[in-house]
Amino acid sequence: MSDFIKAGVIGHPIGHSKSPLIHNYWIRKYGLEGSYEALDIEPQHLEQGLQRLIDQGYSGFNLTVPHKEFVIPFCDGLEETAHIIGAVNTLYFDQGQMIGANTDAFGFIQNIKMQQREYNFSGKRAVVIGAGGAARAVIYGLLKEDVAEVIICNRTLEKAQKLADDFKDLGIVKTAAWDERSEILTGVDIVVNSSSLGMSGQPALDINLQALSPEALVCDIVYAPLYTDLLKQAQDKGCLIVTGIGMLLHQARPAFEYWFGVLPDVDQSIENLVLE
Ligand code: ATR
Repeated sequence: MSDFIKAGVIGHPIGHSKSPLIHNYWIRKYGLEGSYEALDIEPQHLEQGLQRLIDQGYSGFNLTVPHKEFVIPFCDGLEETAHIIGAVNTLYFDQGQMIGANTDAFGFIQNIKMQQREYNFSGKRAVVIGAGGAARAVIYGLLKEDVAEVIICNRTLEKAQKLADDFKDLGIVKTAAWDERSEILTGVDIVVNSSSLGMSGQPALDINLQALSPEALVCDIVYAPLYTDLLKQAQDKGCLIVTGIGMLLHQARPAFEYWFGVLPDVDQSIENLVLE
């Protein structure tokens, strides 16, 4: 039993998490000895709860709402990505040190590269809708891929301005007012919805893509529904589109590799499993 590897996702609440489905699928697929559980810890008990799990021999964790920022002070070290994004979604141990990583930007970019083979980000102009935690990972990913500029458009302009300031050392990051979201699309190559708009139970993202070139790439990080109104509108124009489910699947791959030593593949079966 000594080779048995335990990992899990910590959140509060945690019942909604798709991560156990994803990681347990890979544990079975690669014939590994291990388990991945949903672990509910309240924010005020995070430090003790984490320690208890570490004492029980866990090899690592994913973090989800509301712990991604709260966990930072308890890490012995942070990967650069987690440091710059300001959130940790993965914990692993390296020579006894608990390291915080963030694999969301990798997941976002890798998803685009898988759905639109050899997509070249270099020199492109991108509009990012939203300025929450997901937007931070998206903006970091785009800037690391050498886009020419990112324009953040968010209902609350101050949050967009804060993000633009946080990322200014990585490239050109501008902001646009919420009311301008349709007009700013002239000459834009990439549009990403990183807000919760369009998700089942949320209002649709009310945006007019008329000014957008049919050559543009339109991505949604929302995956329920898989084809959001934004993606349908983009598809009708002839734009390239990228659905959101792959970001969830690809962000899980480096975490799985940290704990289980195998970089898993994203195949159609896992996508179907998660979308069921
Ligand atoms: P996450 O961590 O998943 O990104 P979040 O931090 O709650 O979630 O961010 C949600 C994003 O969706 C924010 O950009 C939010 O805009 P505000 O910063 O103005 O709150 C955006 N959002 C949510 N509901 C919205 C709505 N009805 N209209 C416009 N934007 C909305």
